[in-house]
Amino acid sequence: MKYTAAFRIWHWLNAIVVLGLVGTVLLRKSFLSYKTNAQIIMTKLSDIGVDIFEEDARLIAKAIRANMWEWHLILGYALAFLVVYRIALMFFDKSKRDSFSSLDLHKKGVKLSYYFLYGALFLMTLSGFAMYLREELVLAEATLKNIKEFHEIVYNYFLIFIPLHIAGVVVADIRDEHGIISTMINGKTKDNF
Ligand code: HEM
Ligand code: HEM
Repeated sequence: MKYTAAFRIWHWLNAIVVLGLVGTVLLRKSFLSYKTNAQIIMTKLSDIGVDIFEEDARLIAKAIRANMWEWHLILGYALAFLVVYRIALMFFDKSKRDSFSSLDLHKKGVKLSYYFLYGALFLMTLSGFAMYLREELVLAEATLKNIKEFHEIVYNYFLIFIPLHIAGVVVADIRDEHGIISTMINGKTKDNF
């Protein structure tokens, strides 16, 4: 046994939730961008002879985006749960991993990328909920702005980690670590499945 069932379940739930969170951001910044859609609303309305102010078009565009963005917050709650779940695993999980010092340079890098990811998950949850609960926490406008900037900077780590991680495990599976992806599915070590 390499990864316990509890750990594998955590990994896949976490992958789904993080991909979902990043997905909502990508939608917010592309198809559902309120600036782009406000322009479309204005142009289309003006084609049928209705002129509205840009501010109003932006309000409509934000209303269209709102139902989708709700999912950022729903998945945000799921992530908070998964962070607590992962912290519990630190104490109770019996998954077997090679010690850091026994790894070659490449594997050390891979492992570091996981540590940074755990840090990033934690920071995103804290900063995300700080924004979400801004009224309850009575946050000043400037503080909120700083937190949002921080949340967006850390976001970039996910944009780097996710493609590298997925491509990395696929390449490793093909090249010299046959079955590495299966270890995260069936929990067996590479030499006994
Ligand atoms: C992997 C985790 C997460 C990622 C990658 C992520 C990414 C982002 C990004 C990039 C933005 C800025 C969007 C924009 O203005 O264009 C954002 C905003 C936000 N996120 Fe997250 N987020 C994550 C987790 C969370 C969590 C756990 C919460 C907590 C509920 C949360 C709540 C928010 C809120 C409230 C905003 C501000 C939206 C606004 O200004 O209207 N996020 N997130
Ligand atoms: C969807 C495609 C994905 C596949 C096929 C995949 C596969 C794997 C595999 C095979 C491992 C073990 C690698 C090793 O032993 O070094 C692993 C570990 C890991 N994966 Fe993924 N993964 C995926 C998505 C994700 C996503 C989206 C995240 C989070 C953003 C993630 C986070 C992690 C973390 C943190 C570890 C390290 C676990 C530990 O040992 O503490 N994975 N993944």
